[in-house]
Amino acid sequence: MLEIASEQRYLANGGVGLLIDLTSGDPVVVHWGADLGSPVPDAGAFTDAVARSSFDLPVRPSIAPQSSRGWLGRPAVRGSRDGHAFSPLFVLAQVSGGDADLHLQLEDESTGLRLQVAIELTPSGLLLTTSTLTNVGDTSYLVGGIDAALPIPDQAVEALDTTGRWAREKHPQRRRIDQGLWVRGGRHGRTGHDATAVLAAGTAGFGWGTGEVWAVHLGWSGDSETFLERLRSGQGVLGGGELLQPGEIVLAPGESLTTPTLYAAYSAAGLDGISARFHDWMRARPHHPSTPRPVVLNTWEAVYFDHRLQPLLELADTAAELGVERFVLDDGWFTHRRHDRAGLGDWTVDAGVWPQGLGPLIDHVHGLGMQFGLWVEPEMINSDSDLARAHPDWISGPGGRQPLEWRNQQVLDIANPEAAAHILGALDALLTEYRIDYFKWDQNRDQPELGSAGRASSHDQTLAIYALLDELHVRHPGLEIESCSSGGARVDLGILQRTERLWASDSNDALERQTIQRWTELLVPPELVGAHVGPTVSHTSGRVHAISFRVLTAMLGSFGIEWDVRTATADDRRVLTEGIAFYKRYRGLLHSGRMVRLDSPDPTLQTTGVVSVDRSQAVFIAASLASGAAEIPPRLRLRGLDPARTYRVELGLPIEPHSGSERAAVPWLQTGLTTSGAALQHIGVPMPMLFPEHALVLTVEAIA
Ligand code: GLA
Repeated sequence: MLEIASEQRYLANGGVGLLIDLTSGDPVVVHWGADLGSPVPDAGAFTDAVARSSFDLPVRPSIAPQSSRGWLGRPAVRGSRDGHAFSPLFVLAQVSGGDADLHLQLEDESTGLRLQVAIELTPSGLLLTTSTLTNVGDTSYLVGGIDAALPIPDQAVEALDTTGRWAREKHPQRRRIDQGLWVRGGRHGRTGHDATAVLAAGTAGFGWGTGEVWAVHLGWSGDSETFLERLRSGQGVLGGGELLQPGEIVLAPGESLTTPTLYAAYSAAGLDGISARFHDWMRARPHHPSTPRPVVLNTWEAVYFDHRLQPLLELADTAAELGVERFVLDDGWFTHRRHDRAGLGDWTVDAGVWPQGLGPLIDHVHGLGMQFGLWVEPEMINSDSDLARAHPDWISGPGGRQPLEWRNQQVLDIANPEAAAHILGALDALLTEYRIDYFKWDQNRDQPELGSAGRASSHDQTLAIYALLDELHVRHPGLEIESCSSGGARVDLGILQRTERLWASDSNDALERQTIQRWTELLVPPELVGAHVGPTVSHTSGRVHAISFRVLTAMLGSFGIEWDVRTATADDRRVLTEGIAFYKRYRGLLHSGRMVRLDSPDPTLQTTGVVSVDRSQAVFIAASLASGAAEIPPRLRLRGLDPARTYRVELGLPIEPHSGSERAAVPWLQTGLTTSGAALQHIGVPMPMLFPEHALVLTVEAIA
């Protein structure tokens, strides 16, 4: 049975190494971390001691941990044949691959299971792994779950992940790693507001620029679990897999289940290094958006459901004057949709509100040289809709009763091919009739009871969504789609393989956004993260922010506006216009460079930079989140530049409003600062005094 070419494999790419010992027939991960260079060490030499009062052989972490191999943590493959075949003993049967990929086929005759594990180590150093479980027995096999896991070393002593809620997504939480299992689960039927962008483990005190960090992310938009487990042996793993409902997946003889991709990143230099692995990998994808990310105007917080042609035409005119490049008509345009209690499912233009259809608005928008985008929420259905009246059985749920409503809506059972075909037809008809460049694709509810024909269907529903998006891209090349889910409840690399932008949060409050975007962009590069300048008084918090702070916060993403700019003062329009010009000038850099977040000694001062790959140019935005403790703000010690080169630092946009007194200023504000990359890092740029909840932007250019 064993045809193993060699007893160990070493993958290396992008400065990362993965050493796997295959001697026992179990793919034991001896090392995942820094590239070990050559010669490749003998994996067997690193076998640890056998603990007292334990199995009589060394127990080692596998990419697919198994109880049968003595792993007392969470086993990778869980399931049974009616209570039997509950504990497979997988043995390696085939191995193939090159320097940066590995394909393992593991077999267990006694349980009739085959597990194929694919591992790819990309040029960016990001590790991707998927597993396929096949039922090679002759009875059906009920799958409980399939994970992949990667070891973390003893010196990983602190864990970090993100959580959140509506309008406050992606907030970090940090804890000491003790013995036990820490599972971040989502049973939302979508990724969830509280979903963790990455689950990371690192050395003591790791920061954005310091410490070794290991991190995982599951690329899946349905129910999922990512976990960190440290056993009493001291051994630890990071892992993840889809969360399946009881009985959800039953494999008939010959059938297979493939897991979502588990992405794993290692950094020798803090969380910025984790970001770089994800961002570089995403940017290298052939379908990564390659055109400049357009300035958007979204109508939601401007007009809500008040859809009247004339004001919208005026809004489009003002937007075009400001430099907007894409005009997105949000919720409220379709049949019965006068409020959020009706209409979802009825994807035809409301004849009462739009007697001439959307044509006059779309033509006007295109005439102004802007793209046109339209909001849709295809996976949903209001009970009060023609669709629900015609197909009450198309509501997803447990069967036999209606699930609870959420925002007055239910989930459409698109795991049902008829419902999926209906929705595809409706969206296709819109895209065929109108010149629509962009869909804002929303999903506005949790549903922990997704079901189709009485069976749990979170898995099938998620795949059906992916299939819909993929088919629309095939039929309408050039169409861009934004992933929105009550703000940022669908931020994951499963959906981002088939969408071109995400909506990070329904909060347009710039202060909230400073945190939300910072941690969303730990995973996702800023060009994909929608960030809008909202109204002067925030609709979700009541806070009032200066236009300059709102503009500089939106600068850190895919820039847009969500505000009735017809009502903006002349001063606000001026700052907005200047900000948009700055964005257009620097978006090439902002959307291709390395992100640098300064580890500030003062948590109220948050600085985010983007340094070009060749380190010739950078933009840093420093935001004062609150009043700091020190009288003089700490200097900005700019990381990521070339220490040997000379740079010119200037203020990118005027500080508005200026904090007044002359004493608050610093000399370089008048003259600019010309000095070495080393001085910028080790001495740092003196900071002028900013009002709390204000920001400034620095441009940094290498001098030839
Ligand atoms: C969700 C989205 C918002 C907006 C509304 C429309 O809440 O996140 O941006 O589109 O729906 O109903």
